[in-house]
Amino acid sequence: MANKILVTGATGNIGKTLVNELKALGADFDVMSSKAQSVTHARVGDFNDPTSLERAFTGIDTLFLLLPLTENKLQLAKNAAAAAVAAGVKHIVRSSGAGADPTSSFALPKLQGEIDALLEQTGIPTTFLRPAGFMQNYVTYQKQAIKDGTIYMADAGQAQSLIDARDIAAVAARVLVNPAAHVGRAYTLTGGEAFTGADAAATLSTLLGCDVKHVSVPNAAAVSAMKEWQMPAWLIELMDSLNKIVSAGYASGVSPDVENILGRKPRTFATFASDHAAYWR
Ligand SMILES: NC(=O)c1ccc[n+]([C@@H]2O[C@H](COP(=O)([O-])OP(=O)(O)OC[C@H]3O[C@@H](n4cnc5c(N)ncnc54)[C@H](OP(=O)(O)O)[C@@H]3O)[C@@H](O)[C@H]2O)c1
Repeated sequence: MANKILVTGATGNIGKTLVNELKALGADFDVMSSKAQSVTHARVGDFNDPTSLERAFTGIDTLFLLLPLTENKLQLAKNAAAAAVAAGVKHIVRSSGAGADPTSSFALPKLQGEIDALLEQTGIPTTFLRPAGFMQNYVTYQKQAIKDGTIYMADAGQAQSLIDARDIAAVAARVLVNPAAHVGRAYTLTGGEAFTGADAAATLSTLLGCDVKHVSVPNAAAVSAMKEWQMPAWLIELMDSLNKIVSAGYASGVSPDVENILGRKPRTFATFASDHAAYWR
């Protein structure tokens, strides 16, 4: 049966590997970008612009929906849901987040859960991928801190089961090429083990041959720092909710879903770090 796939977020952490995974599987897919000139042959679609979305989703059977982290993320999801219905999309595979739950008392999982719920309400069959924190945060948000020798985290020394975004992409590709096998499922995607910031710092110290320290920052001090950096209030609220989840030890659970779908263990932090060493040198 025909299965034309559209990858949104194709230029991001997950999306850039997902494109290669889909190529390797011989899938029939297009990519979407909000910037006409950034990706060759991309369908141009902006989550802020419903008309552009409906055009981009036309002729698509299976939609990989990845929404950026913005203040109006819920509205972007509403726009995408309406366009998917109007364009006759048959299945939505949505990149959500671990713990997504519209009744959560934590702001970020609550938002992710509200978005999952509104997609379910479209009546289009869904599959939710709910990843834990990405190891890639060490080469994005933490890159300069690691180069400077100290990783500051509001984690109370607690472990996290971070996942390599390349494994999220590998799972997404398997689901996208065979969506019927995953209708109505929600997968929690974690690494194969939980490790602390101190463990990560030790791995990086050995790999880079220099001393990388880990310092735990109290949650209230992290909020003050984010205010000093003039981060917007909505983002501080979401990041603070994440810090509270991690500090309470709620981000350390390990799920078997990646291994069940891929038939291999998730990548370890040591493998991730070794593959990305050039970022910190
Ligand atoms: N980092 C973590 O630890 C973590 C953990 C769990 C969940 N998440 C969630 O994962 C998502 C981020 O995934 P990622 O890191 O793979 O992405 P990313 O690297 O942040 O890239 C964002 C993607 O969104 C696209 N985009 C941005 N604005 C757009 C718009 N207005 N219309 C259409 N597309 C737009 C960008 O493509 P163009 O610029 O080409 O349009 C880009 O490909 C977020 O929703 C975040 O909440 C992150």
